[in-house]
Amino acid sequence: MNILILGSGGREHALAWAVKQNPKCDRLIVAPGNAGIAGLADCAILDILDGDTVAAFATENAIDLVIIGPEAPLAAGVADRLRAAGLKVFGPSQAAARLEASKVFTKEICAAVGAPTATWARFTDAVTARAYVEEKGAPIVVKADGLAAGKGVIVAMNLAEALTAIEDMFGGAFGAAGAEIIIEEFMEGEEASFFVLCDGQTAIPMGTAQDYKRAGDGDTGPNTGGMGAYSPAPVITPEIIDRVMKEIVLPTLTEMVRRGTPYQGVLFAGLMIGDGQPRLVEYNCRFGDPETQALMLRLGAQALDLMQATAEGRLDRVSAHWADDHALTVVMAAKGYPGPYAKGSEIHGLDLLSEDSWQIVFHSGTTSRESATVADGGRVLSVTCRGRTLREAHERAYQMVDTIDWPEGFSRRDIGWRAL
Ligand SMILES: Nc1ncnc2c1ncn2[C@@H]1O[C@H](COP(=O)(O)OP(=O)(O)OP(=O)(O)O)[C@@H](O)[C@H]1O
Ligand SMILES: [Mg+2]
Repeated sequence: MNILILGSGGREHALAWAVKQNPKCDRLIVAPGNAGIAGLADCAILDILDGDTVAAFATENAIDLVIIGPEAPLAAGVADRLRAAGLKVFGPSQAAARLEASKVFTKEICAAVGAPTATWARFTDAVTARAYVEEKGAPIVVKADGLAAGKGVIVAMNLAEALTAIEDMFGGAFGAAGAEIIIEEFMEGEEASFFVLCDGQTAIPMGTAQDYKRAGDGDTGPNTGGMGAYSPAPVITPEIIDRVMKEIVLPTLTEMVRRGTPYQGVLFAGLMIGDGQPRLVEYNCRFGDPETQALMLRLGAQALDLMQATAEGRLDRVSAHWADDHALTVVMAAKGYPGPYAKGSEIHGLDLLSEDSWQIVFHSGTTSRESATVADGGRVLSVTCRGRTLREAHERAYQMVDTIDWPEGFSRRDIGWRAL
């Protein structure tokens, strides 16, 4: 098979690595890719938001399967264009990707099927939104409806923060994504990520993880795209999986079919688990970054079989086989991230690290300059290790982090502590 992966982060490096483990993979192209991905696949410069460009490229290169990594091309309808051109795709249509691209849409689906989630209200003007938070009080959560690169959610611990968030959102801080907002109940509990594969008809659970959003140790500092993760997430027990499938995921997928927009791809359910009760925080229509780095190291070659079965509507005949292992990923980011940071510093020591199916440094944002690997983003490396226990994976990962010589970078030191 010839395979094209769209994206350029640690998630896509991990997907590329897993696909490459499978003997069915002949040629692998990643667009646009990064310096780490270039070590195992051909990289191609493409406008991945332009469906026609991607379709023409995939057809020319005899691509048998396109795997779409990030949400932006999905929300832009790239999967629809590819399918219209007769290509096989892993990833939902534009209409189905609304489960991530519109928080109002997801709340309406939850309401239609009775899926447990935070109570909520929607607003298109600041005056009524302000009155609502003044009536409800803090803590309270203010969310822009549309895609805002992980920045459109304010968990306000006091009234002033909530009021500022409302001003910012209607003041245009998130552009059109904030033209409508949601204000919802603050949910207590433990958060975890649950991944489900769906081929439009059949859905199968494919893994669990927990991630670390704050920049600093002990969950302090600003929110980021994710500073680390581990899989499995012990809080998502088999009983919780049953309940989430029955109460949240399957009703959602049935409702999508009923509306004529079946969901195909990975559905990422962000859950809050309090008092043994799972509630939906959000859906994403793609794999999580950095959760995928941990998931892929555990799944290996079967990731390709599962994504292919999803794209071909054969999920009723497959399942994910998990070993009794644990994987953990530590993100190394440029100092300053998630605020302003510098690009272009050199990273040394990567060549001293051996890589195998137990430990890999996935690249999140790198490029090459002459023979050096240089930082080219906020999140730069995802050091990912597997172990028979989480502790083993944790220790191995931090040994690798400490071998990497990159004074301009930083990482959290406590990834995995919650479960250890
Ligand atoms: N109702 C809530 N109660 C408590 N915390 C919440 C609530 N809603 C969101 N959060 C917190 O805010 C984070 C971001 O919210 P959400 O997942 O809806 O936004 P997002 O921008 O789509 O995130 P992502 O970038 O992960 O897709 C959640 O991971 C959770 O920690
Ligand atoms: Mg989201």
